[in-house]
Amino acid sequence: MKKLLTITAIGLGLIVASAANAATVLITGSNKGIGLEFAKEYAEKGWTVIATARHTDAAELQALAKAHKNIAIEKLDVTDLAGIQALAAKLKGKPIDLLINNAAMLGDTKQHLMGHFNRDLFRQIMDTNAYGPIAVTEAFFENIKASEQKKVVSITSQAGSISQSPYIGAILFYRMSKAAANMAMQSLKADTKGSGIIFASVAPGLVDTDMEKELGNALPIQMPKPISPAESVSGMIKVIDALTAQNSGKVFNYTGENIAF
Ligand SMILES: NC(=O)c1ccc[n+]([C@@H]2O[C@H](COP(=O)([O-])OP(=O)(O)OC[C@H]3O[C@@H](n4cnc5c(N)ncnc54)[C@H](OP(=O)(O)O)[C@@H]3O)[C@@H](O)[C@H]2O)c1
Repeated sequence: MKKLLTITAIGLGLIVASAANAATVLITGSNKGIGLEFAKEYAEKGWTVIATARHTDAAELQALAKAHKNIAIEKLDVTDLAGIQALAAKLKGKPIDLLINNAAMLGDTKQHLMGHFNRDLFRQIMDTNAYGPIAVTEAFFENIKASEQKKVVSITSQAGSISQSPYIGAILFYRMSKAAANMAMQSLKADTKGSGIIFASVAPGLVDTDMEKELGNALPIQMPKPISPAESVSGMIKVIDALTAQNSGKVFNYTGENIAF
């Protein structure tokens, strides 16, 4: 089928060249690691990509957007409620088929340990990893509801599972934040019943990124060799493609299996 290229005006000022019937994804934390790879892979699939980040000037993200005219970069800190509202106002009326809550932080892992607890770090981690996904979902709720696919995916971690984490202990604040975010996806499914929105948490596996290096150093067990962001993200995209109302609210591994709470 002949692909029509159109210029889609999104709110005020944001112009993205995209296929006429392209689906749209909004990704948080897309300046590096897994978020950057999501932006690349969805752009290559012809989606309209709204790649959000705190550091919009990051060289790799800028280069990606230069190479793919269907990527628009937008500034977004998921803990900045006014900033989230400002972007939502800019994108008002624009359907968003898929929101990927990818942004997250780990912080100084020593401060997650008994005897070294830092409440400010705990608050920052919970604010970013647990409140961030629900704040962004709330702000873009109408955009998602107005779309074809209506999907909200939070990138989780096996470390957030009580029964299926390979090791429990260390990175305590991070584990708590991911368990909370998993609960949020389940709970939002119930609270927005009738909206048609599908929620899921998807774990990327152990992936070769900056965060993985910090995770690996913090755990007292030998971790397996990390996989590449490309392997993880292509697996997660298959999982996201297969999401339906029937499996909404669940936690999946990038390989497609369910992860228990
Ligand atoms: N890598 C792994 O092995 C692994 C395993 C399990 C789960 N995960 C999850 O996968 C996701 C991506 O992690 P990654 O491995 O790609 O880590 P990463 O390379 O450290 O990237 C994290 C991303 O989150 C962004 N971020 C942090 N705080 C933010 C905020 N307040 N607002 C907006 N963006 C913020 C970072 O932006 P800045 O550059 O501005 O800090 C960065 O873009 C996270 O949810 C992580 O928990 C990763």
